[in-house]
Amino acid sequence: MKAIQVHTFGGPEVLTYQDVPRPTAGVGEVLIRVQAAGVNPAEWKAVSGLTRRVREVPLPFIPGWDVSGIIEEVGPDVTAFQQGDAVYGLLRFPSPSAGTYAEYTTGPVADLALKPTSIDHIQAAAVPMAALTAWQGLFVHGRMEAGQTVLITGAAGGVGHFAVQLAKSKGARVIGVASGRHAAFLHELGVDQFIDYTSTSPEGAVHDVDLVVDTAGGMNGDPLLSVLKPGGTLIPISANQFSPERVAQAGVSIVTTIGPVMQVRSSGAQLVEIGKLIDAGQVRVAIDTVVPLAEAARAHERSAAGHVRGKIVLAI
Ligand SMILES: NC(=O)c1ccc[n+]([C@@H]2O[C@H](COP(=O)([O-])OP(=O)(O)OC[C@H]3O[C@@H](n4cnc5c(N)ncnc54)[C@H](OP(=O)(O)O)[C@@H]3O)[C@@H](O)[C@H]2O)c1
Repeated sequence: MKAIQVHTFGGPEVLTYQDVPRPTAGVGEVLIRVQAAGVNPAEWKAVSGLTRRVREVPLPFIPGWDVSGIIEEVGPDVTAFQQGDAVYGLLRFPSPSAGTYAEYTTGPVADLALKPTSIDHIQAAAVPMAALTAWQGLFVHGRMEAGQTVLITGAAGGVGHFAVQLAKSKGARVIGVASGRHAAFLHELGVDQFIDYTSTSPEGAVHDVDLVVDTAGGMNGDPLLSVLKPGGTLIPISANQFSPERVAQAGVSIVTTIGPVMQVRSSGAQLVEIGKLIDAGQVRVAIDTVVPLAEAARAHERSAAGHVRGKIVLAI
């Protein structure tokens, strides 16, 4: 089969389109004929070698964790899905890689859900990592409740645009923070208030926020603490630095699961719930760019360039 392989750490130029052996499904796994693979900053960070600081990434490897495709074969003991089912998932995260930048990949059934019927494979591949991160940040670790005020940084990006819509779907008042070019997009997605961070700092513009989902990160998160009300919660999705004294002074909690961030986990069960909201028209999938598998390097260049609106996807 064709796949993108990485033989040495580096920039987009190390993504090599080549023939590799087709994998086979093990116990509890399915073999998926990949139709589309989602592209996340996590992939170019893994390819660059950056993530070796936290976990070993064995070479060579096929990048990618997000998939949408058709089940080609079910492995031993699999009853949850059948050959021919259209499925989507975030596979084996946070393993070093699950190899979705390929014509075929295997995945554990627990990481998969039936693809929402109202969207195509390109849109479905855009969902798993970004929407699960938003879901887990808001509802699992952030314990968001209807009526609360939620502030989301990086609101137009992959994680952010899902976080805006998921928070709205469960009854929050949502403040989106992004650069001004995304104002109309975020108003369409339903933000109650938009802050252009290039001209207005959130800490000067809002206060009494219950929950912050910080996907933008940065070098100094302390100013962001002052938008929260005492007892409020901040979920760092991207690494940011907070001084313990300022956190204590503000009387807020920062919820991390590994190192300085809340890290997403694979979950087929949560993708079922997210899929229901998509099929109900409550969550839409915005696509920034679609690139053919052979040109994956272009997708990584686009992701690393920043100002992404929605998601980048590889068409297989
Ligand atoms: N912890 C986890 O498990 C996990 C999971 C997924 C992603 N992540 C990380 O979370 C980050 C976001 O991921 P993503 O997939 O959403 O990336 P993305 O699609 O590239 O979106 C990032 C967004 O942030 C915006 N942005 C940049 N600087 C900003 C600032 N100072 N204030 C507000 N917005 C800003 C960008 O556009 P504008 O500047 O034009 O607004 C862009 O829309 C990445 O660092 C990624 O590695 C972590």
